[in-house]
Amino acid sequence: MSSNRNAISRTRGIVGAGTAAVLAQMAHAQGSDKIKVGLLGCGGRGNGAVRQCLQADPGIEVIALADLFERKVRNTRDGLVKDAGERIKVADDHLFWGYDCHEKLAKCEADLLLMATAPAFRGRQLMAAISAGKHVFTEKPVATDVAGCREVMEASRLAAEKGLSIVAGTQRRHEFSRVELMKRIHDGAIGELVGGQCYWYGEGIWFRGASDGMNELDWQCENWYHFTWLSGDQICEQHIHNIDMLNWCFNGPPAKITALGGRQWRSSNEEQVRIAKEVCKRFNNGSEEGWEKYNGDIWDHIYAEFEYANGARCLSFSGHSPPRGSGRQGEKIVGTKGTSDCRIGISGANAWKYDGEMVDGMLQEHKDLIASIRGGKGLNEGVRVAESTLTAIGARISAYTGQVVAWDWLMKESKQSLVPSQADLLAGKPLYHPIATGRDPMV
Ligand SMILES: NC(=O)c1ccc[n+]([C@@H]2O[C@H](COP(=O)([O-])OP(=O)(O)OC[C@H]3O[C@@H](n4cnc5c(N)ncnc54)[C@H](O)[C@@H]3O)[C@@H](O)[C@H]2O)c1
Repeated sequence: MSSNRNAISRTRGIVGAGTAAVLAQMAHAQGSDKIKVGLLGCGGRGNGAVRQCLQADPGIEVIALADLFERKVRNTRDGLVKDAGERIKVADDHLFWGYDCHEKLAKCEADLLLMATAPAFRGRQLMAAISAGKHVFTEKPVATDVAGCREVMEASRLAAEKGLSIVAGTQRRHEFSRVELMKRIHDGAIGELVGGQCYWYGEGIWFRGASDGMNELDWQCENWYHFTWLSGDQICEQHIHNIDMLNWCFNGPPAKITALGGRQWRSSNEEQVRIAKEVCKRFNNGSEEGWEKYNGDIWDHIYAEFEYANGARCLSFSGHSPPRGSGRQGEKIVGTKGTSDCRIGISGANAWKYDGEMVDGMLQEHKDLIASIRGGKGLNEGVRVAESTLTAIGARISAYTGQVVAWDWLMKESKQSLVPSQADLLAGKPLYHPIATGRDPMV
């Protein structure tokens, strides 16, 4: 930190029109205690997160923007200037793009970096930021493979040594209602935990074509959700929110994971197939032959069982399917004396309902982060979010291989590393893994 020291769309995190006026007004109220912010990843969530950060504290100023694509940093700067006026101080030489933009961003004079790119790169981004002495807000998940989780854990330990804060975009952990509820669960309000369920099962998601000037790797990164090495598959990318709640209930990750799943509808989704064929023609001299690899390699459903250290088993149900009105999202935890929705209430012997202030976790997480920076407290959620990311990855590995996955194996033995080196990224090499079979080898 410099020494002088809601109208939010839930899934995309874009701040609505009313907030622009608030952000601009806050500029006039701001004091001298400035925190300089840089944003890495100028897509939907990055644009939402940076506005939430501005909204969280009048001393925030945005001084740098980075993304894979030049047009995104420029458009983001234009939009931010419109919404937050003089609080946006991003000079041309503080706009960075390309596969090494995180390294350039880490060298600038920001105090705090916000990370909202595709998840694959978070380990190296976080390591660069923490090594350079920056506080970090990072979106979830924080990796797509085991090696990435370990790198995040290492960066988090380094942050702890340096007294730097890392706050993760698992926003449920910042909602007052859930914080209060979890205290009760941990104090035994529902007895010993014996089981639970969690869900993120919904409709399909965006599928993006290739625009002019993109090479094949750029297109993969633009369409990142559909490739396991880039997103971690849906169980990691989205369902992590619900899995993280279970891990919070148990105060740590499961000891053992068993999962199964598959690809039921991806190749029969007409619009997605049409786009995949167009992309194929674009990169394949006008031919549609081999279009299947452009249809992504993630699965569309995974069911998992998490067995925690005390023997409790929790079931998880995640996936995408065409609209059927059967979507479900949430969690439930079951104890010997009662149950909880992991949100606002407890049923059973110690029935209770939260009646305090309801806050938006996506705003509160920034308030908590900034309070920790100003108070010099070093709030560090890095290891915890890496554990929840690894829990989801462990379930994916179990589903892809047909084997039971032990936490100890993930932490000590697995050699899984899916993300290309910086040199390969800079060389623009696209990367297609074969679609998992359900009997893949364990690595
Ligand atoms: N906490 C939440 O509820 C929540 C909600 C939505 C998204 N997210 C997370 O936020 C992240 C971004 O999601 P999004 O919806 O904004 O996606 P998006 O595609 O809109 O934005 C991602 C941005 O990252 C950029 N990018 C990709 N690879 C890059 C690289 N190597 N270097 C620099 N920039 C790169 C892309 O160009 C794009 O602008 C994901 O991890 C996602 O899981 C969290």
